[in-house]
Amino acid sequence: MSAPNKSYDPVEVEALKPEAIERMRDDALAAIAAAGDLEALTHVKTAHAGGGSPLALANREIGALPPQAKAEAGKRVGQARGAVNKALATRQAELEAERDARVLVEEAVDVTLPYDRRPAGARHPLTTLSERIEDIFTAMGYEVAEGPEVESDWFNFDALNFPPDHPARETQDTFFVAGPEGSGGTSQAGGSGGGTSQAGGSGGGTSQAGGSGGESGVVLRTHTSPVQIRALLERELPVYVIAPGRVYRSDELDATHTPVFSQVELLAVDEGLTMADLKGTLDHMVVSLFGEGMTTRLRPNHFPFTEPSAEMDMLCYVCRGESVGNPDRPCRTCSSEGWIELGGCGVVNPRVLVACGVDPEKYSGFAFGFGIERMLMFRHNVEDMRDIVEGDVRFTLPFGMEI
Ligand code: DAH
Repeated sequence: MSAPNKSYDPVEVEALKPEAIERMRDDALAAIAAAGDLEALTHVKTAHAGGGSPLALANREIGALPPQAKAEAGKRVGQARGAVNKALATRQAELEAERDARVLVEEAVDVTLPYDRRPAGARHPLTTLSERIEDIFTAMGYEVAEGPEVESDWFNFDALNFPPDHPARETQDTFFVAGPEGSGGTSQAGGSGGGTSQAGGSGGGTSQAGGSGGESGVVLRTHTSPVQIRALLERELPVYVIAPGRVYRSDELDATHTPVFSQVELLAVDEGLTMADLKGTLDHMVVSLFGEGMTTRLRPNHFPFTEPSAEMDMLCYVCRGESVGNPDRPCRTCSSEGWIELGGCGVVNPRVLVACGVDPEKYSGFAFGFGIERMLMFRHNVEDMRDIVEGDVRFTLPFGMEI
């Protein structure tokens, strides 16, 4: 065993010489000062203050020094590392401030730029409601049918079995666009409606609707029922159609009337259809539109194109009939009557089938028609018809964009 080493030789460690430490520090400070951005500074930090940096390596050498040299070398390295860390922190703060200032300029939002001044619109609730009704029936296999708003009076009246002297043909109800040629008036049109072959011919001749001749006058259609005739002439049997559309009557615009309004027409012609099918179809429609528990009732009425004909009412969807005879629970929607009048319906008159070339011995059908504005009014508590007609976005906006 050798004797203990009492007199330590001051071991010369190259890396710990004061000049070496100073050089490491100065290199580090120069690199820090030269770092142009935060990314460069990250690399400088790894190179000059990381675990593999010259100062860190020098620090590790301290352990090899004799005790009296350790303190001095430790202090020197410590001071150098302190200076480097301080410079790093200062430069980091400087570069961050520079970056923030640059981002503020580069990403500035010019709040004085003009914005889109056209506000988003809304769909008219009449459109939405008639599309809903279409959906209910197309889901059952019905087709959507259309017809012109400027219509031959043969389609509007004659083919629908209106007699020549029917009051609906008077100018107080109907807008006439062109009268029949010659002086025979509607009686000629009535003659034209008599036979199925003529009906077919007339269906092909929209020239009549254009007012360019023929026996029939031209009107703005007073209801969507002429679409029944067009559907029967254009389609193969069986026919199941739903036809929403605009109609015209010579009324003044007021809180409850409008000269231009919308109806939905339905026609089903098939073998073996009865009034019971009509009732089931109506009930399905009101349940789909107003919810479970809804139902309809039929009251006898008269329309030339249906026999038997009925007025259809639906259960009041607000009180469900409970306001009737119940003064404690009055209902504004149905005036405590329990029912709301919807429109007309019935079994298609065989004369209409004949006018369209359909054999009434083989086929039968049912039809209904009602106004959509009225339904919109009670469904949404719209009190004035003019709000529906005028097209003010303040009215349509609350109904939103429902598609
Ligand atoms: N077209 C009739 C009207 O405007 C309503 C109507 C009644 C349509 C009975 C129909 C129906 O299809 O069968 O007053």
